[in-house]
Amino acid sequence: MKIIKVKDYNEMSDKLNELFVTQLQNKPTSVLSFTTGGTPAGFAKLFVEEINQGVDISQAVCLNLDEYVGTKENPASVYNWMYNHVYNKLNAKPKIIDMFDADAKDFASEIKRYQTVLETYPRDMQLLGLGTNAHIGANEPGTSFETGAFVADCFQSTIDATQNLFNLSMEDTPIQMFTMGFKEIMDAKCVILAASGKSKANAVKRLLEEDIKEDIPASYLKNHENFIFIVDEDACSLLSD
Ligand code: GLP
Repeated sequence: MKIIKVKDYNEMSDKLNELFVTQLQNKPTSVLSFTTGGTPAGFAKLFVEEINQGVDISQAVCLNLDEYVGTKENPASVYNWMYNHVYNKLNAKPKIIDMFDADAKDFASEIKRYQTVLETYPRDMQLLGLGTNAHIGANEPGTSFETGAFVADCFQSTIDATQNLFNLSMEDTPIQMFTMGFKEIMDAKCVILAASGKSKANAVKRLLEEDIKEDIPASYLKNHENFIFIVDEDACSLLSD
């Protein structure tokens, strides 16, 4: 595990941007996989600016970690987030854009379809955010480390976080997610986890100070040979050392 300690959210966004842009510059055919939410919003802005200034994304494949079950129309959908923050703002589009289909009704066949996409395009980089309970994707505490992609029931704390972030009514707030499982997350050549702010401090403390266990989903990343953890001062504020 490589830990990159940054000052604050802006520095975390800069660092993420640097890693993803360098990856694309070194390998224009890169397969990049993103996540959505509060953590990557600053990075997404910088990334779009840099691509529009001439970094070639037209040969890249762009994927996503997870997606809410329901409809793409939902303001919280990963589809909306990605198009509003990134794809609609790019002058040139990636060669392939894919993600779980929020509208899919047949969960098993949608999972199979996306797993085939992931096998066809091995990821060079997988970005992850950290849940306040240390979840990654929608792999909530207690999820087996053996799990492949599945539809997860979100914990109440995750549902509340989604509701607050997108300012949704209770009935519009999604409660289930398609998510890569630990298997697909670990298959990426490089996994980057980012955490900023005091709300993540307890999860960061558990991840760094406790053993690998299913109660701390992100702890499993410590088994990945190319795991980069970008964390800011507030998120480190509960660490003993
Ligand atoms: C959500 C999503 C994750 C996201 C994480 C952190 O529940 N399922 O994909 O990375 O929690 O979200 P945020 O960055 O908004 O704190």
